[in-house]
Amino acid sequence: MSDSVIRYDRVQRILHWLIAVVILSMIAIGLYMVQLPKEWELPPGQESVRAFWFLLHKSLGITAAALILVRIGWRLTHKAPPLPSYVPKWQQRLSGFVHGLLYALMVAMPLSGYLQSMFSKYDTKLWGIVLPRLAEPSTALREQFSEVHEILAFTLIAVLVLHISAAIRHRLTNRDISDRMSLCDKTNK
Ligand code: HEM
Ligand code: HEM
Repeated sequence: MSDSVIRYDRVQRILHWLIAVVILSMIAIGLYMVQLPKEWELPPGQESVRAFWFLLHKSLGITAAALILVRIGWRLTHKAPPLPSYVPKWQQRLSGFVHGLLYALMVAMPLSGYLQSMFSKYDTKLWGIVLPRLAEPSTALREQFSEVHEILAFTLIAVLVLHISAAIRHRLTNRDISDRMSLCDKTNK
């Protein structure tokens, strides 16, 4: 175990945790909202809250995309700190692969969500502001991108289970790795 932990820089640590909270909320909202009844499935006089959650999901998702782009821009210009040399090469390669997959999914999720929304007959709104329509509505394309978005969502959940399990395992055994992304500047040993 090394004496001092080399952390990710402060910007990367703040963006990691901010985006993690937003993405975990987006997954929860997404899974919840698709099960809500549509207006015409409810007894007369009852209002559906489905539209509220869809609007929130879309606005938060587009905001997440902006944060993710800032994060990727920062990461491309700022290296990750080297892992301690005792971490086996295969583990370093595996974690690099999983992190690459997470970045790809962080781009593909909002993109596929936006594309299905773009081909829908409803306007896409960002916190109440109607965004310009870039394409004509198409049921076939909306359904295709909706399916892509759903498959990617379940892939993201599976990769996150791996990522979070690895982080918890490190936290319980040797904190050198988990402290690298810790918001707190002090090493808790
Ligand atoms: C939506 C949720 C999350 C996403 C998308 C995510 C994504 C990522 C990515 C892409 C990296 C690599 C950073 C880089 O090298 O540029 C990373 C590192 C890390 N993440 Fe997460 N993460 C999430 C949630 C979590 C959670 C909940 C934990 C803790 C339980 C965690 C702990 C860590 C740690 C400790 C590292 C540093 C690993 C290392 O030093 O190699 N992450 N995360
Ligand atoms: C990090 C970003 C995002 C995450 C993690 C995410 C996650 C999810 C999840 C888990 C679902 C439920 C999947 C299902 O069972 O069908 C969902 C559905 C949906 N998402 Fe996203 N989403 C993101 C971004 C977006 C964006 C940016 C938009 C649009 C601007 C969007 C629009 C939608 C729509 C319209 C549905 C419902 C699809 C349907 O009715 O079948 N999402 N999302």
